[in-house]
Amino acid sequence: MTDEPHGLDRGLTNYGDRDFARFLRRSFARSMGISRELLDKPVVGVAMTPSGFNNCHRYMPELVEAVSRGVFAEGCLPRPFPTISLGEVFLNPTSMMYRNLMSMDTEEMILAQPMDAVVLIGGCDKTVPAQLMGAASAGVPAIQLVTGPMSTGRHKGQRLGACTDCRGFWAKYRAGSVESDEIETVEGRLSVTAGTCAVMGTASTMACITEALGMALPGTAAIPAVHADRLAAAEETGKAAARLIRSRITPGQVITEKSVENAIRVLMAIGGSTNAIVHLTAIAGRLGMKITLSRFNELSDETPVLVDLKPVGNGYMEDFHAAGGVGALLRELRPLLHLDTIDVEGRSLRERLDEPAAWVDRAVIRPLADPISRVGGLVALAGSLAPDGAIFKRAAATPALFESEGRAVVFTGLEDLSTRIDDPDLNVGPGDILVLQNAGPCAAGMPEAGYLPIPKKLAEAGVKDMVRVSDARMSGTAFGSIVLHVAPEAAVGGPLAAVRNGDRIRLSIANKRIDLLVEEAELKRRLADFEPPLAPARGYKALYRRTVLQAPEGCDFDFLRAKIG
Ligand code: FES
Repeated sequence: MTDEPHGLDRGLTNYGDRDFARFLRRSFARSMGISRELLDKPVVGVAMTPSGFNNCHRYMPELVEAVSRGVFAEGCLPRPFPTISLGEVFLNPTSMMYRNLMSMDTEEMILAQPMDAVVLIGGCDKTVPAQLMGAASAGVPAIQLVTGPMSTGRHKGQRLGACTDCRGFWAKYRAGSVESDEIETVEGRLSVTAGTCAVMGTASTMACITEALGMALPGTAAIPAVHADRLAAAEETGKAAARLIRSRITPGQVITEKSVENAIRVLMAIGGSTNAIVHLTAIAGRLGMKITLSRFNELSDETPVLVDLKPVGNGYMEDFHAAGGVGALLRELRPLLHLDTIDVEGRSLRERLDEPAAWVDRAVIRPLADPISRVGGLVALAGSLAPDGAIFKRAAATPALFESEGRAVVFTGLEDLSTRIDDPDLNVGPGDILVLQNAGPCAAGMPEAGYLPIPKKLAEAGVKDMVRVSDARMSGTAFGSIVLHVAPEAAVGGPLAAVRNGDRIRLSIANKRIDLLVEEAELKRRLADFEPPLAPARGYKALYRRTVLQAPEGCDFDFLRAKIG
């Protein structure tokens, strides 16, 4: 420990009299029943995110208690504090609009309050990236604990888990093969415990990425929310946070170019969520690192999919945990990984993987030599329709559509999409390409609207997949042949804004391209009339619109990123 003020003496409130500020703080701390002895201990902040609007964080009080137990056990004082919480399905227009707000809340509260280290407890999609972004910028020793995935429910003998099965049942309902009374029954059987979505959606992907980065304790990403091991992991996380006070390891020492590459390898191998690319880019951007689409594709082409979970495969997160979890996966990926990265405990990945291997369920985590797919789950595209890039989840798409050319059927925004998609008179066929404009970060906060529904008349005729293109995102639990994150987005005058009904679009996954087959001169002519949508006049939304960056920069705010080196 240095001579720097520590614990509750850090960052005293400005009254113009430091001794008085210290006296007053200690007096007020004692009003919380903290003894004089504990007042002098190092302090671990516990960023907690319970909310009546966040089902995924329902067990937060128990986790906070277990973390605090661990902190006490190491002779430090835990101080839980709230930040905003983002419950994915309770936010309008989309949780993505508030990720940066939560990251600012987290960063500022870490810096403004007296703590020597911090435990970040989050789980639902945007909460973990927001916390890691905030902690990376704050530069205070930090460790992440995730709330853990839900366990599965049952319906007519079938296992169900949010939210891939939500989408599966809803598609059947739209196609008329599931009746309304059954869909009501299923509604109560999809999300049956506390925790994050039960499949390898965005929350689980970010949990695995966090462990791969080294920001969470080994083996903690996939423990089910309701499992006793989750509480034991919370207690261990509290102890590790207390040890961080001595080691002073900061997020910037753990999240490095090498650990980010390891995390991308894991993202590929788990067939993870497209959203994780945006979040990982934003986290890396806070530390001055850039993820280029070309390097992303190199890593994808060299990294096989090894994990057989929905939405790409069959299993659920509870199966992944029982199969060996992230540790077993890292062991398979070992020849591809940077082994000299360290985790929050200062331990190298090599040391972790040199430990004796535990049993692995090969039905869930395949060996490197026998992958589910020889290439990674995600691929970055470029081309005349997306000069700055787009993303395609090949692991969750229909291979027959990988090389497609079709006629564009254009929706000019979310309202237009919901008004016309099921219109029986919509001029659309199974070989067409559905295009959604104005759903990017500036226009709409980049909602998960990229999974455009198959028009009802085609769904009823048995069409299961079509190529869909947008500047939106897609839920990590979704599947289909979907081109996302088109950049620049339509609302800032990207070529997507110039697409008209009947234009030809060509998708080539082999060439990693998405092209609008319209002459350049014609494109220029169309874009000459481009008018950006009106910006909100006040408040957070005005700040958001003024400063949000495009998807290849992680949709962070321009003033929050570090200078990219
Ligand atoms: Fe929270 Fe899916 S809604 S993780």
